[in-house]
Amino acid sequence: MTEEWVPAEVDVNRPSIARIYDYHLGGTHNFPADREAAAQVVASMPELPAVLRVNRDFLGRCVQYLADQGIRYFLDLGSGIPTNGNVHEIAQAVDPSARVVYVDNDPTAVIHARKLLAGNDRVAVLNADLREPKAILDDPEVKRLLLLDLDEPIAILMSAVLHFVPDDTEAEALVAAYRDAMPPGSFLAISHGADTSEDAERIDTAVQTYTRAVAPLKLRTKQQVGAFLTGLEIVEPGVVHCSEWRQAAPEGQQLPQICGVGRKPVGSQ
Ligand SMILES: C[S@@+](CC[C@H](N)C(=O)[O-])C[C@H]1O[C@@H](n2cnc3c(N)ncnc32)[C@H](O)[C@@H]1O
Repeated sequence: MTEEWVPAEVDVNRPSIARIYDYHLGGTHNFPADREAAAQVVASMPELPAVLRVNRDFLGRCVQYLADQGIRYFLDLGSGIPTNGNVHEIAQAVDPSARVVYVDNDPTAVIHARKLLAGNDRVAVLNADLREPKAILDDPEVKRLLLLDLDEPIAILMSAVLHFVPDDTEAEALVAAYRDAMPPGSFLAISHGADTSEDAERIDTAVQTYTRAVAPLKLRTKQQVGAFLTGLEIVEPGVVHCSEWRQAAPEGQQLPQICGVGRKPVGSQ
């Protein structure tokens, strides 16, 4: 990484969710503090980099699926630092007119995405907190790019981000607000760190380490993730491990990252 890249408002000494994810995916937009925090978590959860790759692969397959279903408007909440297989690249490969609004509250993610996307008038990057659905849905760029006032179906993506909203009531309420705002025919796609009963003590240590070193983290069960899709028609194969979603699952124990995609019934409010 070059010094020139470091934005002034970024505190390089404070580990960041977005930069740690970038590091685990093999990216270069991270600093020693991020790598040290990442190493602390990996000490109790060596499979974490594999979990995150499985998550990113799910996101790619999911966007491809949604674009193949005819979705052209994407709201990507907690979008991260641009890396391989960005949402706009996949969607615009299917239809160059596809539009994407990326939202992240990490300045590194926002600044880097804006730099990459300068000149692409079908993509916008918002520096915003997904816990404020009204502010995001009322944002003029979101309304303009995603045609929200015209009730065109959209896809809302929450990939590997809801586990950073530890309070269950808050998480349920904010997801409901996005779900309610989606026009009929829209999709909601979620992936989430899984609370598996296997190896609970070891995973708990990793979660506590992440919470201490980076940010509060809350894993959820398959049932809890499924509940985020309440009222939607669940796309096959349902709420499953990410590696099992619309591909042949690899053999052996599945990595603890689950996902589900739901469609708002046509004819509903
Ligand atoms: C693990 S990364 C996932 C990136 C991408 N969605 C993916 O699945 O490849 C989580 C991202 O969510 C962002 N994030 C965490 N909490 C957020 C919040 N409250 N509002 C907006 N973004 C948030 C982080 O900054 C980070 O970039």
